[in-house]
Amino acid sequence: MNDPLSSFDLDDPELPQSIRKAALRSGGFPYDEKLDREEYDTQLYALQKQLVLLQDHMAKAGERIVLVFEGRDAAGKGGTIKTILENLNPRYNTIAALPKPNDRERTQWYFQRYVDWLPAAGEMVLFDRSWYNRAGVEPVMGFSTPEQTALFLEEAPEFEKRLTRDGIRLFKFWLSIGREMQLKRFHDRRHDPLKIWKLSPIDIEALGKWDAYSDARDRMLERTDSKHAPWTVIRANDKRRLRLNVIRTVLEGFDYEGKDKKAVGKIDEKIVLSADDFLN
Ligand code: ADP
Ligand code: AMP
Ligand code: MLT
Ligand code: MLT
Repeated sequence: MNDPLSSFDLDDPELPQSIRKAALRSGGFPYDEKLDREEYDTQLYALQKQLVLLQDHMAKAGERIVLVFEGRDAAGKGGTIKTILENLNPRYNTIAALPKPNDRERTQWYFQRYVDWLPAAGEMVLFDRSWYNRAGVEPVMGFSTPEQTALFLEEAPEFEKRLTRDGIRLFKFWLSIGREMQLKRFHDRRHDPLKIWKLSPIDIEALGKWDAYSDARDRMLERTDSKHAPWTVIRANDKRRLRLNVIRTVLEGFDYEGKDKKAVGKIDEKIVLSADDFLN
């Protein structure tokens, strides 16, 4: 197959037709079109009302929730997080988007700085990237040694076992986008003054490391998918379907007063997969 990168120039304001056309279906995405905007708005409104009920339940039941968002650069993590938080109380529903570790943090137990951000009763924390950096960006970019990553892959399920055994509700999402879609989004970011800040030097470097990231992802899913903390893989080329289905997955995990099954709707099994189904 032709490498789409060969026809790609980030700095050229014109994105090649071949990439634009291939973007939505890239990486095995099963739909030819984005979800209709009106349908999206209607479904999202219904889901956001359910999230408000969940928030109330969290407060009353002392629930602690962690959502982990992982995926390649430009997979849509930030936008999904924003959508979930849009109508929730920012005091109890917060983002954890940690910068790269500083010199002091580098000497700590790897999970230590993430522990600081875990929720108390009634709180939900959404991790925009997480401890899983050590399975993805760090080994691919050379920020961790193979030994550190091997140790991480062993420790992550144990760490997560401690959290879930203590009662934290942990959801781990892998947002999966196709290659042309990533190129298209990088290109959009490069040429949109409101999105340029999303394009980092790491993203530029990632352009040529697609396969290394794929291998790292597969290894991560194999090694860290567990009964107590399973991965939910979502085919994410359509941001609208992505966001609706992430919210549905969270809501399905809880019983709360006023739960309206019709409003929650059905998880789209064409784009929402277990780690095993995704890998096979
Ligand atoms: P994002 O995609 O989250 O906007 P970047 O693409 O710049 O941010 O970086 C991806 C991830 O790599 C971030 O979580 C960042 O903290 C991490 N990272 C960047 N540089 C280093 C480094 N030197 N060591 C460890 N992690 C790093
Ligand atoms: P330039 O200085 O425009 O020749 O760009 C040098 C490299 O950085 C190229 O790979 C560009 O695609 C990339 N680049 C240019 N401008 C930006 C920017 N504002 N943010 C991130 N990367 C950029
Ligand atoms: C995303 O789109 O996944 C997030 O905004 C992070 C990024 O890749 O810049
Ligand atoms: C969004 O929130 O719309 C996306 O993160 C933006 C993008 O992918 O360029």
